[in-house]
Amino acid sequence: MQNKPKFYITTPIYYPSDNLHIGHSYCSTAADTIARYKKLTGYDVFFLTGTDEHGQKIERKAKDAGVTPQQYVDKIVAGIKELWKMMDIDYDDFIRTTDERHVKSVQKIFRQLYDQGDIYKSEYEGWYCTPCESFWTELQLKDGCCPDCGRPVEKTREESYFFRLSKYQDWLIDYIKANPEFIQPSSRTAEMLNNFLLPGLQDLCVSRTSLKWGIPVDFDPKHTVYVWVDALTNYITALGYGSRDDSLYRKYWPADLHLVGKEIVRFHTIIWPIMLHALGLPLPKQVFGHGWLVIDGGKMSKSKGNVVDPVKLCERYGSDAIRYFLMREMPFGADGEFSNEALVKRINSDLANDLGNLVSRSVAMIEKYFAGKVPQPAAYQEIDRQLIAKAENLWKTYSTDMDALQFSSALSEVWKLIGECNRYIDQTMPWVLAKREEDRGRLGTVLYVLAECARIVAVAISPVMPRTPARIFEQLGIRDEALMTWESIKHFGAMDGQTVHKGEALFPRLDIEKELKETAMPAVQEKAEPQTEAEVTFTQADEVGIDSFEPVQLVVAKVLECQKVPKADKLLQLRLKVGNTERTVLSGIAKHYAPEALIGKKVVLFANLAPRKIRGIESSGMLLCAVNEQAGKLTLLTVDEDIEDGSEIG
Ligand code: ME8
Repeated sequence: MQNKPKFYITTPIYYPSDNLHIGHSYCSTAADTIARYKKLTGYDVFFLTGTDEHGQKIERKAKDAGVTPQQYVDKIVAGIKELWKMMDIDYDDFIRTTDERHVKSVQKIFRQLYDQGDIYKSEYEGWYCTPCESFWTELQLKDGCCPDCGRPVEKTREESYFFRLSKYQDWLIDYIKANPEFIQPSSRTAEMLNNFLLPGLQDLCVSRTSLKWGIPVDFDPKHTVYVWVDALTNYITALGYGSRDDSLYRKYWPADLHLVGKEIVRFHTIIWPIMLHALGLPLPKQVFGHGWLVIDGGKMSKSKGNVVDPVKLCERYGSDAIRYFLMREMPFGADGEFSNEALVKRINSDLANDLGNLVSRSVAMIEKYFAGKVPQPAAYQEIDRQLIAKAENLWKTYSTDMDALQFSSALSEVWKLIGECNRYIDQTMPWVLAKREEDRGRLGTVLYVLAECARIVAVAISPVMPRTPARIFEQLGIRDEALMTWESIKHFGAMDGQTVHKGEALFPRLDIEKELKETAMPAVQEKAEPQTEAEVTFTQADEVGIDSFEPVQLVVAKVLECQKVPKADKLLQLRLKVGNTERTVLSGIAKHYAPEALIGKKVVLFANLAPRKIRGIESSGMLLCAVNEQAGKLTLLTVDEDIEDGSEIG
């Protein structure tokens, strides 16, 4: 144990959302795959994940649900842990930012930075995006909204503590330039330098007085530590940094790899390294920003109603198939499209056909021709030697790809070998060899080569698919763990007279049409994006929990302008003022209102409905109406004159 090199890998800590979607599982699956690969190849691995539980968003959700924030997060975190168990995410520690160990250490770090003058007290005036928990200056806003997520921001003015990011800007620029491996893929380095660092860093507001659900600044408790400072610190507090027992910290820090989604690379490569440097601590060796799993080109999100539930997928196809798909389908780093069709096709072609056939045909023939006992090979021929060389060299190309986090290429190398094996069966035709006694030696050699290749494949897929190898070993009759190791796949010829057992198909073939029908996206997608000319009708609905309402953002908007849309009898085009922003919305109320009658009215806007083009005009949101179907009457919901536009309705 002592001599093993260490490897410390982290996922981001997740916001406790009641339903983590397949996009979240993507990051955890990749991290788990790397952790397993590193363990397999001889590293002493520490794999950390957890939850990011403080902040205004949680405070509001808990209030809406009528529970305390702690009760709210406890319940959700239990569900997240269940999901990771289901997906075989085998972490070594799960940190929660509400853990006492974390809270104490964050307070200590904040105090240290204050004592040494890197944090100072001043006043903050600017804009805050609650969904992103991010501060923005007036200049950074995009059309008056959050430049990251496009949602409305709130004006904030309060006494705050600030962290001197600006002081460390030149140091960080030099560091990033001198360490090209620090931010990966390298395109993200340019993004960080050009978009954030070179234009100049401003000091960061790192406390809030208006937020209670967070870690109090211990020497000034009306202030709460800014959630990103709280969250980023998890990577060292989990190791006991700042506590009496910091042995894990001393052993594993600096992290070898922080795996994060591309939208949070900024926090991990600007705020985090500056914090560490100010504390006199070493920096993580690498921050890798992976791409997003998208649906129809857009990010999966609860408010768009297009989230894919990993629990349902795992129940239906098994976690290994889902993990395989996530790691195989798209190059790591880039965005990749998720679709049920692509998933089912991959399961059928790669898992049921290629892998499944190799194992089942090899085992079946050993049973049939050698009474189940793996035969000893006789002299190898050229065709055998070629396949053996490919199998023996697999670990080299595979590990080059895995070390570069190119999971898809690594798996493609394994599947090339599987393909070669299946071709080898077709070329050597064991069923023909079986017909002549004098070919028995040759038949034994062919089947030995196949069994040994299947063993090598089983070891190679184990980081991505932790369950399947055991099923392959069982079928091959391999019990000795020495035949399951990384070292054992570097040399061909470890199998020796095992007794095979034909088992169930590793991955049964799926009926694509049936699967697509039964796994079609949930109805919520249609609900979130009505097809008609911006009209919505309400039917007698099933009872729903408060959570169903939570993603819908309703705000008060003031009608500035209104006109008919040419050649559309039902549509009005409205220009709305929402706080400091303006937007255009189309509404199917032209038969019920004269355009000029609406100017100046305060109406209710479904603000975070995905924008859509209707008759070539982009409509950003939807106006709520009362519908009386029998009378054919549609009445726009309006609110009192003295309610300010931009106010949230909840
Ligand atoms: O960002 N495809 O938490 P989070 C791929 N608490 N990855 C996705 C994704 C998608 N469709 N959707 C989300 C946070 N993710 C902070 C992190 S770390 C100190 C604090 C990824 O729950 C996302 O990119 O919103 C991020 O890396 C992770 O899930 C957690 O997202």
